[in-house]
Amino acid sequence: MTTTLEKFRQSKAAGHKFASLTAYDYPLGRLLDGLDLDFILVGDSLGMVVLGHPDTTQVTLDHMVHHTQAVANGAKQTLIVSDLPAHTADVPETAVRNARTLIAAGAGAVKLEGGVEMIPSIRAIVAEGIPVLGHIGMLPQRVREEGGYRIKGKTPQQADQLKEDARALDEAGVFAMVLELVSPALAEEISGCVKSPTIGIGSGQGCDGQILVTYDLLGMFPWFKPRFVTPKANLAENIQTAVTEYVREIREPRKD
Ligand code: KIV
Repeated sequence: MTTTLEKFRQSKAAGHKFASLTAYDYPLGRLLDGLDLDFILVGDSLGMVVLGHPDTTQVTLDHMVHHTQAVANGAKQTLIVSDLPAHTADVPETAVRNARTLIAAGAGAVKLEGGVEMIPSIRAIVAEGIPVLGHIGMLPQRVREEGGYRIKGKTPQQADQLKEDARALDEAGVFAMVLELVSPALAEEISGCVKSPTIGIGSGQGCDGQILVTYDLLGMFPWFKPRFVTPKANLAENIQTAVTEYVREIREPRKD
């Protein structure tokens, strides 16, 4: 049987362009399923766009289990990747236990943030037969330490570190790796020297694929609009227009 790692690496070698989006609940999971996405990510971005926190650092494993179960109830065909939240994969034994919990909730793979320092945890999860999606560049789980969402890889030191991280993740056996807010030239260079596909977010068009927070793509979260997203819909406005009309119809005196 072809493993997720083999499938993703073979597809990259064949020139496939990977497309992915996030989902957090049953309707979105069901709507996205069957639309030819390479995977659906139950991202810990849910901490911001669903739970209303300022960042993802307060997301817990219980939140991830709850939302993974909901997405898995809706998405039956597409690979579901679930995020290991902040500090749930720092130590290999804990990382494996928590990854197993997400798989039991319905995920087919897990994602974790970090570079070379996370290799022992990545190797331990991969050794359990659980596919791992890496995530390097800007790490939202460390946004407080890093002081904001900034492009990574602009200095030679940062670029060298990111290349080392990417190579280490590739060797540890991630089936793909997210490159978040990596300077586009560097993201393209990294994509050219790793076997697993790179999935960019705000990292230019030189990656092997792209991922977005679905709420950004659909205009569902008007309070924060990343510069690199061109929304394809304006659902926030649609919802407000529909509700305004509903309220008006209730309150308007009937004409008959
Ligand atoms: O949590 C998330 O949704 C993510 C993606 C945007 C890559 O990490």
